[in-house]
Amino acid sequence: MPDQTPIGALRDPAALAAGQYATAANLRSRSALHDRYSTAAQPFREWEAGLVHWPDGGAVLDIGAGPGRFWEYPALPRSLRVTVADISPGMVADATAAVAAAGYAVEGAVADAQRLPFGDDTFDVLIANHMLYHVPDPPAALAEFRRVLRTDGVALIATNAPGHMRQLNALIAEVFGPQELGLNSAFAIDNGESMLRECFGTIAWHSFINPLLVDDAEAVTAYAMSIPPAQSATEDQRRELTRVVERQMADGGGMLRIDTRTGAFVCSGEAR
Ligand SMILES: C[S@@+](CC[C@H](N)C(=O)[O-])C[C@H]1O[C@@H](n2cnc3c(N)ncnc32)[C@H](O)[C@@H]1O
Repeated sequence: MPDQTPIGALRDPAALAAGQYATAANLRSRSALHDRYSTAAQPFREWEAGLVHWPDGGAVLDIGAGPGRFWEYPALPRSLRVTVADISPGMVADATAAVAAAGYAVEGAVADAQRLPFGDDTFDVLIANHMLYHVPDPPAALAEFRRVLRTDGVALIATNAPGHMRQLNALIAEVFGPQELGLNSAFAIDNGESMLRECFGTIAWHSFINPLLVDDAEAVTAYAMSIPPAQSATEDQRRELTRVVERQMADGGGMLRIDTRTGAFVCSGEAR
């Protein structure tokens, strides 16, 4: 029987494709907060792209690509041959259009990370950004990543860790009660590395230091309302959430600090 809890629905490929990620709208609400209020010197995707070598003419798989925003980074070789894949047909359509518009040769595929429709040794680089914590069986997906990568290929796997956006989660808990969704621990820094060891020989974690400094309570509320539990908020709960965010901002001199705990694994080689 499908798990009907909020975390269950957020780790169910069919439910994600039909609900949370049927379109890019929810993701865009969350990205907007990061785009406006990040304090890091570089955008996350630009920083992450700098962690690996991009071979001219190389084949790249972006799995769980969402609307394809990774490909906004302008300094990658346009000779790359990009495949964008996602469990959501809506995301694949958006990502394919965005990557083509950015000037790359691109193919799109609706696919579950746990059963990739690609041959062995196909890709030079694989990107799986902020998606493995949605997958019911991350080790099955990692085995697929290793299979479709060439022997000398590299996987770039971004994820979060417990404590990610803790100040925001505390405010949400004030209104909706304690609600540890568990996404930040489903595939995080510590348990992620031990799963990766089953498939890759070399694994390096890179932290992205990026507190958000936010001065717009509505932007925080919009973020919160893109995902459970606030996604199903009543109008009263929405007003209450905005009120507690405004109170916290006033206490902080007009600014709410939200710490992030995120980064990327760079993985290569075969498991020993
Ligand atoms: C948080 S979004 C990240 C999107 C993009 N990688 C980024 O970093 O902006 C997670 C994406 O993973 C996709 N996804 C979730 N479960 C999946 C699965 N089992 N197989 C493939 N894609 C999946 C979702 O549809 C969604 O587009």
